Amino acid sequence: MVEGKSHELQEKLSMKIAGQPSPLQIKSFNESNARINIWEGAVRSGKTYISLWRFLTELDEGPEGEYVLIARTYDSFKRNVLPQLVAMIGGDVKYYKGNRELHVFGKTIHIVGADDERAESKIRGPTFSGAYVDEITIIPESVFKMLISRCAMKGAKIFGTTNPDSPYHWLKRDYLTDNPDVKSWQFTLDDNPELSQKDRDYLKRQYTGLWYQRFIQGKWVQAEGTIYDFFTEQEHVINAPPSYTSSYIVGIDYGTANPCSFVLIGHDPNCFPNLWVEAEYYFDSKSHQRQKTDTEYAEDLQKFIQGRPIKAIYIDPSAISFRMELQKQGVQSLYEANNEVMDGIHFVRSLLKNGTLKICRGCKNVINEMSSYVWDKNVEKTGVEKPKKENDHALDAIRYALFTHLFGRSGKRLTPQDIEKMEAEAHGRTPNLPRFFQDGDFGMH
Ligand SMILES: Nc1ncnc2c1ncn2[C@@H]1O[C@H](COP(=O)(O)OP(=O)(O)OP(=O)(O)O)[C@@H](O)[C@H]1O
Ligand SMILES: [Mg+2]
Repeated sequence: MVEGKSHELQEKLSMKIAGQPSPLQIKSFNESNARINIWEGAVRSGKTYISLWRFLTELDEGPEGEYVLIARTYDSFKRNVLPQLVAMIGGDVKYYKGNRELHVFGKTIHIVGADDERAESKIRGPTFSGAYVDEITIIPESVFKMLISRCAMKGAKIFGTTNPDSPYHWLKRDYLTDNPDVKSWQFTLDDNPELSQKDRDYLKRQYTGLWYQRFIQGKWVQAEGTIYDFFTEQEHVINAPPSYTSSYIVGIDYGTANPCSFVLIGHDPNCFPNLWVEAEYYFDSKSHQRQKTDTEYAEDLQKFIQGRPIKAIYIDPSAISFRMELQKQGVQSLYEANNEVMDGIHFVRSLLKNGTLKICRGCKNVINEMSSYVWDKNVEKTGVEKPKKENDHALDAIRYALFTHLFGRSGKRLTPQDIEKMEAEAHGRTPNLPRFFQDGDFGMH
């Protein structure tokens, strides 16, 4: 399939490769001889697949010495990369869990999770003969820079994949624009020969707005304007809860100088929509010209949830003093929220978009924030995208509750597969609804 690579690997490739690679996969495989080689573009477009084959060739033919593989987390390595490697070369890859090492064709590859505080120090010392990086945009720039300096000898090459992000992201700005050390290839859904037309159409339905432009069209576009740009009262607001339920969750965004918000979210697996924001609490110290104490807020929360069957309460992770006060007052089922902002917003958007989640008309602040919650324009300066920290209080409370409860176990990233699953479930295409839709227990804690 691929010219100019070692005979032995050619045989391995042709024996094990499941399908014929696409023209861009072959081209990128053959051209990837720069110091830094980056496969970028749409989801499921075959980037990881072909770049891993290229990395395997490097392990087979490249310089002697130690190699490194960096993923966002050690778990994401086990989920995204390891199964693909095993599917590709089976017993030729040996995984030593205890040492966090792979052995392939006589070479040792160290596995590093970039979220680990020690990531930078782990790669600071050694010199590597080559590296593979899964999802480059979501690892810290400092780790990538360190990696480049550790791969400076003996023709060491770096191979990596990424989905697009902001045009001001450090990877786009410093590596994918006029950098003589870098070669890159832009993948679209059409570059994965394994995807059927049905798969492509299906993937396209999962994304909207910013996420469509990035994850389907493969464009580095800036997040701008309103975050919930598709929200309309007609479509997303309901007059009353669709049912009485025995399952509520609560989200808390804490503020003293800024507003403080609680939201009560109902859930009923037997109706559709099966999630709804039923009630809100909103206290803005500026408009009341006085601040409340943690004790007062805790009493307000107790009143807010009184008499309701609450499964879990998710609290702003920075609200340490308030959390302690709630614990002191004996509030049960209290959990620190996952504050992964982009994934959390993407998650809530998907629930609204596919009809699963509605807002009850009485939640005025939630409804107002839906149209005034915007992306921060100052991203140019930092490259780090985030919503503007205004008009975000009730929406943060919703995000904390839904994302943490239904999805956000530590370190896990929202993948296209997760979004697809949600879409299928929302429309009843699968008889096997996930546990959180099936049992009142949500199955997580
Ligand atoms: N040429 C091919 N032959 C067989 N299977 C392929 C081929 N190209 C891609 N695939 C399979 O298609 C699926 C998606 O490909 P891959 O994981 O490489 O996408 P990706 O571009 O890395 O996506 P993401 O951005 O979501 O990580 C994988 O299961 C992969 O094994
Ligand atoms: Mg990939």
